[in-house]
Amino acid sequence: MADAGHVPWWRDAVVYQIYPRSFLDTDGDGVGDLRGIERRLDHLVWLGVDAVWISPFYRSPMADFGYDVSDYCDVDPRFGTLADADRLIAAAHERGLRLLVDWVPNHTSDQHPWFAESRSSRSSPKRDWYHWRDGRDGGPPNNWRAAFGGRAWTFDDATGQWYLHLFLPQQPDLNWSNPDVVAAMHQVLRFWLDRGVDGFRIDVVHCIGKDPAFPDQPAQLGEIDRVGIQNEPTTHELIRGFRRLVDSYPGERTTVGEVNLGDLPSIASFYGRGDELHMVFNFLPLHAPWTKAAWQDVIGRVAQELPTGAWPTWALSNHDVRRIRTRLGGEDAARAAAVLLLTQRGTPFVYQGDELGLEDAVVPDTHRVDPGGRDGCRAPLPWEPGPSHGWPTPSPWLPWPPEADARNAASERDDGASMLHLYRDLLAMRRRSAALRRGSLHLRDAPGDVLAYERECGGDRRMVLVNFGDREAEVPLEGSWAVDVASRPQPQPGVVPAHGAAVLAPER
Ligand code: GLC
Repeated sequence: MADAGHVPWWRDAVVYQIYPRSFLDTDGDGVGDLRGIERRLDHLVWLGVDAVWISPFYRSPMADFGYDVSDYCDVDPRFGTLADADRLIAAAHERGLRLLVDWVPNHTSDQHPWFAESRSSRSSPKRDWYHWRDGRDGGPPNNWRAAFGGRAWTFDDATGQWYLHLFLPQQPDLNWSNPDVVAAMHQVLRFWLDRGVDGFRIDVVHCIGKDPAFPDQPAQLGEIDRVGIQNEPTTHELIRGFRRLVDSYPGERTTVGEVNLGDLPSIASFYGRGDELHMVFNFLPLHAPWTKAAWQDVIGRVAQELPTGAWPTWALSNHDVRRIRTRLGGEDAARAAAVLLLTQRGTPFVYQGDELGLEDAVVPDTHRVDPGGRDGCRAPLPWEPGPSHGWPTPSPWLPWPPEADARNAASERDDGASMLHLYRDLLAMRRRSAALRRGSLHLRDAPGDVLAYERECGGDRRMVLVNFGDREAEVPLEGSWAVDVASRPQPQPGVVPAHGAAVLAPER
């Protein structure tokens, strides 16, 4: 019988997202690789995270830098080999780190053999693996728009029909109403589960079900792209299918789904009744402005609108958005944001480089490569002071982020006051505090621009104070508290500097 008090590992974990092209290169081609990740695992252990999620490293023509997969069961040669992947999984496990891979079920690359076969003729046995339709009045079958611009259908001369792609034309959408597609993709999950991965981050999973009638979206929605709207009831049964498969493996394998829908009730629906995704990304915090009102609202709504059992997730950046520090405009706020992120109730996700306080790289127009304009946050990680920052080449695929001579892993490790040490201190605190990992969360009254909340679990307590204002603030405290970790040194537990944050523990 399951132990009622047992907490699965992923609820207690902090996950670190690796964008493999920019983590560390070892073979000199200017693009990061799996061996680079293996080489720096000890750094992640030193930092104190529990798991890594690695963005796609499968074979890909790289139209969307790996999110266009041409073989789900092989490693792209730029990243290494399957043997490297096996070694990396083993090396992570030896160090007590869990490893999640990124699975992209909504679409393949147009270079995937499945699509090549599907597009070859209307009578191909794989024709129905993708969404092919006749046009309407000389145009596409409906009015849907693709992410990154343009329409969501491309006409294919070879067979005179249109195919659907919610992203680039090089990313045709799979037809998940075809049981052969379901079976083939389940095989992909098995392939990686058999190799020992601890679970999957699932790319735009809310998009996989489609209404076969492909109705127009209402005109009042204008040119908005389909990805933020697509939400078909049939998706849920498909997700229950993955869940059963993943749960049939021992070792608490897990799933975290990317659901790009802007409201919590929709996000909540993807947890099902504990039979769909283990965790769902919630993008509200990522888009919340840096104000007390916005954060009070987000934290309050997550507490109220996610049903019991729907374990929340928290992320302040990823490979698709501007970095925290760039968005918030300064180091102080970025430090306070680290406190906010790592003291929430739910599993936090840290995007590589945020722990160094990196800003987006300034990428000249001539060097821009991403169709979605996301190059800045994907700049390579500087491991050491210049000129090549611990990489084999001084000029990797994208320019270095600003001030890389100071903001790099080695320099920050030597500086006890760095952002890197703040993250490490926060992670260590979270690890030793049951209240922070698993406890309840209650918002408390606090004056002015200070947001206050208390975490509690079995007698362990923490009070978190975040000052969103430009002036030092004093918070009257009930009882006697001491600073456990603060974003900046502060004179007293209740006195928080401008754009500062502190975690207080009851004084013994
Ligand atoms: C997700 C990924 C993004 C990618 C898109 C298409 O949103 O995070 O990087 O471009 O899916 O796969």
